[in-house]
Amino acid sequence: MDRVAEVADLVTVALDELLPRADGPESRLTEAMRYAALGPGKRLRPFFALEAARLFDIEERAVLRAACALECVHAYSLVHDDLPAMDDDDMRRGRPTLHRAYDEATAILAGDALQTAAFDIVLHPDTHEDPAVRCELAARLSMASGARGMAGGQMIDLLGVRDDLGGVARMQRLKTGALFTYAFEIPLIVARAREPERQALTSFAHDIGLAYQIVDDLLDVEGDEDLLGKAARKDQAQGKTNFVTLLGVEAARSRVDHLAAQARAHLDLFGPDADILKASVDYVLQRRT
Ligand code: IPE
Ligand code: IPE
Ligand code: MG
Ligand code: MG
Ligand code: MG
Repeated sequence: MDRVAEVADLVTVALDELLPRADGPESRLTEAMRYAALGPGKRLRPFFALEAARLFDIEERAVLRAACALECVHAYSLVHDDLPAMDDDDMRRGRPTLHRAYDEATAILAGDALQTAAFDIVLHPDTHEDPAVRCELAARLSMASGARGMAGGQMIDLLGVRDDLGGVARMQRLKTGALFTYAFEIPLIVARAREPERQALTSFAHDIGLAYQIVDDLLDVEGDEDLLGKAARKDQAQGKTNFVTLLGVEAARSRVDHLAAQARAHLDLFGPDADILKASVDYVLQRRT
C-alpha cells in the first residue's frame, strides 16, 4: 500500500531529526540508537497513528512527533527482546541485531536511551502548545510501555503462560496490544475525541494488535527468514506458548480472519473516511516481511 510506504519514509526522516547526536565517546551510544531506530522497520504503529489522525480535524505535527516517540519505544523493545537473556537473536530487519553489531552492554544502554528519548520527544513544547495534552500523551505512553503494558507482557512471555487461551490473550494484549493501542490513543488525545469514536478506535486497536501478534507467531512457523529479516522456527524450540502452539496453524489463521472482520466493522462509525484504514487491515495481516 502506497500510504504505508509514504508514512514509513515520513517517520524515518522525522526520527533522524529527532534522535540525539553526540560528539565524544558517547557517540557510540547515539549511533547504536540510530542503528536500532532508523533501520528498515515497517513503521506500522506510526502508520496507524497518522492514518487514524485523518479521521479528525487535527494538526499532523503533534501526531507525527508522538508516533516517532512510539517508534522509539518499539525499537527499544526489539533491541532488548533480541538480547541473549531474552530471545537470543542474531538478525533483525535483515541485519545483525544491535548486540551483534555492537555489544550487549551497548544494546542495553541504547534500549534505555531510546526509551527516554521517546519521552523527550513527546514532552517537548514543539509537540503541542497545551502542556496537558503533552502530559497525557506521555502518561499513556508510559502505561503502554511499562509493567502493565509491553514490559509486563514480555515478562509473561519469558515465564511462559499456562496452556490456556485466556492467558495467552492477556500476554499478547500487554506485550504487543498495548503499543498498538497507544498508536490510536495519540489522535484520540490530540483531537479530544468523543466517547463513541474513542470506543470504536480502541476496539479496532485491540483486534488488530492481537491479530498482528498471531500473524507474527504464524510467520515464525511458516515464514521465510530472508523475507522476514529475522530468524524463524524458534518459538516452539524456545518453549513459547502462543495461539499457534496452542491451537495449531489452521485455527490460529481463522482467528486472524475473524479478528480482521471484527476490526473493520468497528470502523463503520466513521463511514468512507476510514476506507484506507479498513483496507490496511488485510494488507497488514497478509504481510510476509
Ligand atoms: C515485531 O514488530 C514485533 C512484534 C510485536 C510482532 P514489527 O513486525 O512491527 O517489526 P518492525 O518494526 O517492522 O521491524
Ligand atoms: C516481541 O514478540 C514483542 C515485543 C514486545 C518486542 P516476538 O519476540 O515474537 O517478536 P519477534 O518475533 O522477535 O520480532
Ligand atoms: Mg520475544
Ligand atoms: Mg523475539
Ligand atoms: Mg515473533
